Amino acid sequence: MPAYLVEDARKVTTKRLAEMKAQGKKIAMLTSYDYTTATIVDAAGVDIILVGDSASNVMAGNMTTLPITLDQMIYHARSVARGVKRALVVCDMPFGTYQVDATSAVRNAIRIMQESGSDAVKLEGGSEIIDAVRRILEAGIPVCGHLGLTPQSICKFGTYAVRAKEEAEAEKLVSDALLLEEAGCFAIVLEKIPAALTQRVVEAVKIPVIGIGAGPSDGQVLVVDDMLGKNKGFSPKFLRRYADLHTIMTDAIGQFVSDVKSGDFPNPDTESY
Ligand code: KIV
Repeated sequence: MPAYLVEDARKVTTKRLAEMKAQGKKIAMLTSYDYTTATIVDAAGVDIILVGDSASNVMAGNMTTLPITLDQMIYHARSVARGVKRALVVCDMPFGTYQVDATSAVRNAIRIMQESGSDAVKLEGGSEIIDAVRRILEAGIPVCGHLGLTPQSICKFGTYAVRAKEEAEAEKLVSDALLLEEAGCFAIVLEKIPAALTQRVVEAVKIPVIGIGAGPSDGQVLVVDDMLGKNKGFSPKFLRRYADLHTIMTDAIGQFVSDVKSGDFPNPDTESY
């Protein structure tokens, strides 16, 4: 059996993720934004599929995650959810949909769940958004937290550099993680913080901690297009590339262009028509 094929084909739930942390089993998480990719990611054994607001960068070519709308996120998440049998599908709440007040946050989270078929939502931030987190959880919607580098606040930070290197920010991050756990979040994503701080959080909370550019933790998340090497221009230090799809796709498409131009495609010997 290939190493990546899962032994347990049951649908992943938040309860299963808690058990995985308790048993020391690592959690694999990747983004997806469309149906076809989601079917592949799911069949390959990924435990959590994140419909990230990174769709704003990866799918739409924006510089930041800020422009993507709730309707656009629901469209991506619905496409993904249709393709997934096993993984837990988590949809990012986009910028502006949970920061105004807790009532509009819960209304927007309900729209995501009802209209997309996602299993959970993810929100960026700690104490600043805890009322919204609590109200969404009270509505019966599982919430994943996201601390450290929070790309929706990029205009405030002004940089994508590693966060929480200073003790004051590290202290706040640990207390935010405890606050999110106490509120009832089922997991926390930690983005671009020092590995030692990630370890502090992993030990401080019982819920799974999933890292990106944050060193070892209970699981890892990557943007699927990045780990497949679709984007040649993006190569942060933390990224491991598992394929070079940019080259594979360019070669294949170049071959198609050349076959069409030369008259080799279509060809009655190789294609029926
Ligand atoms: O939107 C996204 O892809 C994310 C991951 C980087 C965690 O939030």
